[in-house]
Amino acid sequence: MNVIQSILVLIALLTLTAGAEEVKFAQVGDRVILEPPVGTDSKVHYIYWKNSDDTDVVWSNPFGSRITKDLLSDGSLVIDKIKDEHFRTFICVTKSGDKILFMRTYRILKVNVTLNPPSPLLPEETLTLICNVESLRGQKKPEIHWLNPQSRQVGSKGSATVKVTGQHNGQWTCVVTNNKKEHHATVSVTVVDLSPAPTSPQYTSKSCPLTIPCSIHVSWDQIKAKGIQEGNWHFIPKPGSSLTPHGSQRLFSLSLEDKLAWKADQNRGLTTASDLTKGNLSLMRKQGREDDSGDYVCSLNFKNGLTLNRTVQVKVLQIISSPGTELISGQQLNLTCGLGHPLPSDLKLRWVPPEQSSSSLTSDRLPAHLTIPEVGSEDSGKWRCELWRSDTRLTSADITLKIEPRLSVWMIVIICSITAIVILLILIFVCIAYRRRQVQLNHPYSFVLDHTGFVAWQ
Ligand SMILES: *[C@@H]1O[C@H](CO)[C@@H](O)[C@H](O)[C@H]1NC(C)=O
Ligand SMILES: *[C@@H]1O[C@H](CO)[C@@H](O)[C@H](O)[C@H]1NC(C)=O
Ligand SMILES: *[C@@H]1O[C@H](CO)[C@@H](O)[C@H](O)[C@H]1NC(C)=O
Ligand SMILES: *[C@@H]1O[C@H](CO)[C@@H](O)[C@H](O)[C@H]1NC(C)=O
Repeated sequence: MNVIQSILVLIALLTLTAGAEEVKFAQVGDRVILEPPVGTDSKVHYIYWKNSDDTDVVWSNPFGSRITKDLLSDGSLVIDKIKDEHFRTFICVTKSGDKILFMRTYRILKVNVTLNPPSPLLPEETLTLICNVESLRGQKKPEIHWLNPQSRQVGSKGSATVKVTGQHNGQWTCVVTNNKKEHHATVSVTVVDLSPAPTSPQYTSKSCPLTIPCSIHVSWDQIKAKGIQEGNWHFIPKPGSSLTPHGSQRLFSLSLEDKLAWKADQNRGLTTASDLTKGNLSLMRKQGREDDSGDYVCSLNFKNGLTLNRTVQVKVLQIISSPGTELISGQQLNLTCGLGHPLPSDLKLRWVPPEQSSSSLTSDRLPAHLTIPEVGSEDSGKWRCELWRSDTRLTSADITLKIEPRLSVWMIVIICSITAIVILLILIFVCIAYRRRQVQLNHPYSFVLDHTGFVAWQ
């Protein structure tokens, strides 16, 4: 019986030309699944997976025995992490009892993807991606092309050359088209770059924290391997700022020897993120300062002359009170809130007066200038000005007003009375002193010797 079966399999193998094979493409390390021929039912059929020399790889019977980790319950052959030795022919034979129902030949072909130079890369380096496949004798070569991370076709005939930019970071796909069937082989390309800077400024105030973000998504070892020379944070004050001299200031520089750390230059009270080794280059401070407005530049310099940099713009929200923060009720008060320049149209300001204040500010589209014709003591306390973009509060600034009540009539009466009494007392005292002086002039002092021989005044 067995001899007859083997002969049948051999005949089947011989009659099957290469064209009748099912071709599968894979890269070394991929997981490959070969499905049994259509019509196979693992619940009623015997399934044999064989090598081309008719030896069994694995088999299953309808009673569910011999299902190993290489076989799925539907009878598919699974090759986890495919190795060089698996790029060959497999045969699947399905039987019902002794009768061969189906027989199919499979061929796994290797896809070879190479990156030159290997990842990671610096922007402006030239990268060549090559994708080739093993081909079967006598068969039409498959069509091969590359897709970049944006899924756009690049290069031709399985070869693509690009001058690297941050856009090239990500997964590239080699598409192998064979008999109208596509196989996708992927490879990831890492481009060393700083994360994109925020598109809008960072807003802060004296009562809000300040964060200046900057980060990298590759390891420091990879960056060192690409020849990093220095890393810096610079501050360029807002033009026209009277508080800081013009030109750029270096805030921090990166110490690259032994231990990776920031060295402070003129740090302006800013601190660095504790997870620098994880690629977080951000700066921060618990509270903003008036002179924080300006551009902050995070940069990395490489030995080949390349500079990676990102600029973060910082703006400070401030409230200015005229005539001041200590007022007497009844005075006129002007409060001005702003960023030091006209507000862009997408930003809005909102005032929050102290709870007890009677100043009614219901609209959320109030102008930057707030005028209170006559302040009252109920207006004293914390006034807040908030900066909003649609439904997001960007930052807020506070100002604390001290408003003394105006003197009341009763207080004036009391103060006048006390003053009158004090003047009266002074007058009485002066009179008494004058009288005593008169008495002393009428009875001049004289010396006498008493019986003990001491001199005494009289
Ligand atoms: C992959 O392709 C490259 C270039 O085409 C070649 O140098 C290399 O030997 C190939 N590797 C394998 C395992 O086929
Ligand atoms: C960097 O660190 C700061 C403060 O520790 C944190 O707020 C920020 O989210 C971190 N950024 C990244 C990209 O991890
Ligand atoms: C930032 O990098 C660009 C090139 O990407 C360069 O032209 C510019 O001078 C750099 N700026 C600073 C402040 O280093
Ligand atoms: C408040 O502003 C108005 C004009 O906006 C001005 O006339 C007035 O003098 C200002 N008052 C104070 C106290 O600054």
